[in-house]
Amino acid sequence: MPKELLNRVRLKVADLTMLSVFPEESIHAENTLEWVLKLHPEAGITLQIAALGHDIERSFDEKRIVSSDYETYDEYKQAHALNSAQIFAQILEEMGVDQEMVDDVAHLVANHESGGDERSEILKDADTLSFFHVNLPFFYDRKGADITRKRCVWAYKHLPEDLHIEVEEFDYMDEELRALVHDCLSMDEPPVDG
Ligand SMILES: [Fe+2]
Repeated sequence: MPKELLNRVRLKVADLTMLSVFPEESIHAENTLEWVLKLHPEAGITLQIAALGHDIERSFDEKRIVSSDYETYDEYKQAHALNSAQIFAQILEEMGVDQEMVDDVAHLVANHESGGDERSEILKDADTLSFFHVNLPFFYDRKGADITRKRCVWAYKHLPEDLHIEVEEFDYMDEELRALVHDCLSMDEPPVDG
């Protein structure tokens, strides 16, 4: 039964992320789940579902959070997490998922940028690793070198040191991006604003 539910959620998230203005959303949802299972092979169904839907607000163009509306990058990220939690909870309720699980998923999604408990930390780390693993070339194309550099430093600093090795092993087709990430890993800069 849990597997059947996971597959239903997977299909729903795939349908929704296909509509996102950000082409990497569907890849990132699946890849974050893969990282959750790599970091914690015993991850329960709730954490796996949260991984699939943690960024779902980015697939709703009329509801999504826009970074320029926030004074700091951390405030933007927090608003993004809360918005995703709210939207994903409604989707799961409409799918008939029981309320206890909906609330648990919403808790994990709401904390996926900040962590704070063991499962939220796993989701946060999986999300960050996935950003480097699959999102970065898309982000770089959209935002350019300066913002990408700041974003990388911010993300890298949010990873526990024992996971830094994973990022160091990623490779990128684009030579400029490869050099940029290499520089970031040894850089010491304040987080990006805006
Ligand atoms: Fe994410």
